[in-house]
Amino acid sequence: MTYRPSFAEIDLNVIRNNYQLSCQQAPASKQLAVIKANAYGHGAVQVAKQLEDIAPAFAVAFIDEALALREAGIRSPILIMEGFFRAQELSLASEKGFWLMLHSPEQIEMLEKTPLPSPLNCWLKVDTGMHRLGILPEHVPAILERLTKRGKLAQSPVLATHMANAEEMNNPLNQRQIDRLRQLGKDTNSPLSQANSAALMQLPASHSNWNRPGIMLYGCSPLVQRSEQIGLQPAMSVYSEIIAIRELKKGDAVGYGGCWQARKPSRIATLAIGYGDGYPRSTDSQCEVFLHGQRATVAGSVSMDMLGVDISHIPEARVGDKVELWGNNIPVTELARRVNTLSYELLTRVNQRLPKHFVD
Ligand SMILES: Cc1ncc(COP(=O)(O)O)c(C=O)c1O
Repeated sequence: MTYRPSFAEIDLNVIRNNYQLSCQQAPASKQLAVIKANAYGHGAVQVAKQLEDIAPAFAVAFIDEALALREAGIRSPILIMEGFFRAQELSLASEKGFWLMLHSPEQIEMLEKTPLPSPLNCWLKVDTGMHRLGILPEHVPAILERLTKRGKLAQSPVLATHMANAEEMNNPLNQRQIDRLRQLGKDTNSPLSQANSAALMQLPASHSNWNRPGIMLYGCSPLVQRSEQIGLQPAMSVYSEIIAIRELKKGDAVGYGGCWQARKPSRIATLAIGYGDGYPRSTDSQCEVFLHGQRATVAGSVSMDMLGVDISHIPEARVGDKVELWGNNIPVTELARRVNTLSYELLTRVNQRLPKHFVD
């Protein structure tokens, strides 16, 4: 039970529907649901429970995220995309049935040296051009041979890579990454995994045995037009309430630093939400919220627990009125663009302090 009138509403049915739409994009592939970072801020346990009967596996970044899902009763396979950090995680991964995406020569060596209760289900991450994580393609055949000889593998590893520019459909690196992974798959007779959401939506050549959609499950892809064509819907809406209203004279300033000044007599509403909940502080007066069926701009700098909104054009607005910060009327991708970031960042910044209301 919480008393504050600010909350994030998460529609789990929308996530389920978005996941099903992601499957329709690549009917010949299996779709692993990426639910790292607390399912991009949407609640990993709730999302996993919602998808566990239709998703063959989940993906998280590190073992702590996977353990939290197991503790909550999620029995599905969970792929850990950063593999492991310390050798002691290996026996835990084997005991809990986690799949490890191995990405570095150091991990391979640690795995070779560490006795295991049973062979592990491993994927190999290949660096095809992103230059972040991954084994160089030319080293992959020898590594596969070494791990197989030492009996470390429960089955033939999936070769995975991550696309660096999938949002830019015509970026030449896309095809190079696709070709490199394909070639390696042929040479080693391995299953493949390549597409993230953007690739799944607009680069069919990247579809393979396993795709790994994340952001599209939450309906917030930066590929706005394509998302609309597919029918994706945003799963998270953030709401607050007006807790005070001020009538300002021309020249009056609002908030810390007085960086917003009334150019004419104005009506300013204060909402009970701020950067301490994950709303970005770096807004300007182009950022909008939604109330009474209309948009209104943010006025003044965002505080930890509050923010101001110019409601001069909405005379009917009153204390206690509900306001959407993002959701169906203010797409989070739009706000993200205005504050020079991505929907990914805004969604994952929503923190514990902001209550989550789940719609099921
Ligand atoms: C390795 C890997 N695969 C898949 C994804 C999902 O990407 P997206 O959320 O863009 O679909 C991520 C997310 O960053 C990732 O790191």
